[in-house]
Amino acid sequence: MATEKNTMLIFGGTGDLAYRKLAPALYNLYLEEKLPPHFSLIGIGRKEKSSAIYREELAAAIKKYSAHSWKEDLWPDLAERMEYLSCNLTDDASYQELKQELKKRSESAENHNLLFYLAVAPQLFVPIAEHLGRNQLSLSAKGWRRIMIEKPFGFDLGSARTLNDALCSAFEEQNIYRVDHYLGKEMLQNIMVIRFANAVFEPLWNNRFIEQVQISATEVEGIGDRGRYYDHAGAMRDMIQSHLMQMLAVVAMEPPFDIDPGTIRRTKVELFDAVRLWPEEDKGGNLVLGQYRGYSEEKDVAPGTKTETFAALKLAIDNKRWQGVPFYLRTGKKLQEKQAKIVIQFKTPPPVCPWLLEDDVRADGGLPPNILTLKVQPSEGVVFQFNIKKPATASEIVAVDMDFCQPCAFLINTPEAYEKLLADAFNGDLSRFSSWDEIEKAWNLIDTIFYNRQDGADQPCSYDPGSWGPEEADLMLKAAGYRWWN
Ligand code: BG6
Repeated sequence: MATEKNTMLIFGGTGDLAYRKLAPALYNLYLEEKLPPHFSLIGIGRKEKSSAIYREELAAAIKKYSAHSWKEDLWPDLAERMEYLSCNLTDDASYQELKQELKKRSESAENHNLLFYLAVAPQLFVPIAEHLGRNQLSLSAKGWRRIMIEKPFGFDLGSARTLNDALCSAFEEQNIYRVDHYLGKEMLQNIMVIRFANAVFEPLWNNRFIEQVQISATEVEGIGDRGRYYDHAGAMRDMIQSHLMQMLAVVAMEPPFDIDPGTIRRTKVELFDAVRLWPEEDKGGNLVLGQYRGYSEEKDVAPGTKTETFAALKLAIDNKRWQGVPFYLRTGKKLQEKQAKIVIQFKTPPPVCPWLLEDDVRADGGLPPNILTLKVQPSEGVVFQFNIKKPATASEIVAVDMDFCQPCAFLINTPEAYEKLLADAFNGDLSRFSSWDEIEKAWNLIDTIFYNRQDGADQPCSYDPGSWGPEEADLMLKAAGYRWWN
């Protein structure tokens, strides 16, 4: 008899997320021998299909999306642990069948751990949590029961609360894993170390030395087949409320006292409490919403839709460290480049030598600022821009880069975000997951922004696909004397 069995159940087992992210992540964990003992997978979907067909579909997805090469000889061992079950997710009878199936599997184990992954349409989150609770699938004395839930975590603060209540009435808080896959990205973890473990950065990380911060996650792709979800959500709810706020957290939070997940979460919540939209006294404004030309013709998008596919915000952080420093957040679909990065522009110091002010010395009429760029994706690394004398000139100053490329230095492919997040959930490590308090504060900010928008300001500005977004976003920075560091 096995002492421990581990079963993962993916609700939405035939969806895009399951094929593109979860199956490749499980395959990678298998190759790296990081799956828990006696692992098996049950993919749950609405359609009838055999497990044999399901395995073929998983294999095709893994071949397409995994960073590891395909190992034909190893696949059968993993494949035979993967099964498909057709369920009506809003019907108690299906959960009873599921319960029987799990009971059968539990008989040969002392402990049978279950990881439920909700990769379904958001309107199913609450019913699934309620059914799992009602059918006693969410608690057991024979092994843990954990739930991983994908975003969107609600549509606004009210719906997020309803969802959280449903989860908390079925599962214990320490078993709820609220996924923000940006927290699984290697560089996001690294930023805290770069900040706190370097004598040249830590003392400068405040409003005395930092002029402005830009946090961007831009995409080349449009909305693809996700119109039904996206047209209801938009860039603010889809990206700013979650991923961009988490990027803001790692760059701006106070140093956490220890690395206990509870401490880190509390420290982030304190930061979110201090975040506001920048007071609107400057003419560039503090919020630009945009929509790419052609968006309203996308599949499943409402005619005349006002949903934003681009958002740029100017935020203030009302605490001692960041008073007066603007934080610009920007995200959008169909932009020129796919990149996620944080750019920190340092204040230009008053010149210590008068000759630094002479016209023929300064590049482009001004001393270039020092800039630290933390590259999250697709390339991972850190670039520091600093000033030198241009070779073969008397004293002309130019900015140059010190460039650290993480994969080049360590010669390894950093694990995919989902790979890390699944491994964490199997191991019971919550540090890379969002707490309810963080989500609540982030929604509060988004709700307040939408609530306070001026009447008539609800038509997003247009921009051309392949550009860097609407001109208004450039003007927002220009008004403050800056530009986007693309
Ligand atoms: C998802 C959003 O959470 O993140 C998508 O719903 C977005 O709209 C995606 O495309 C971006 O993730 P990544 O890892 O490709 O930057």
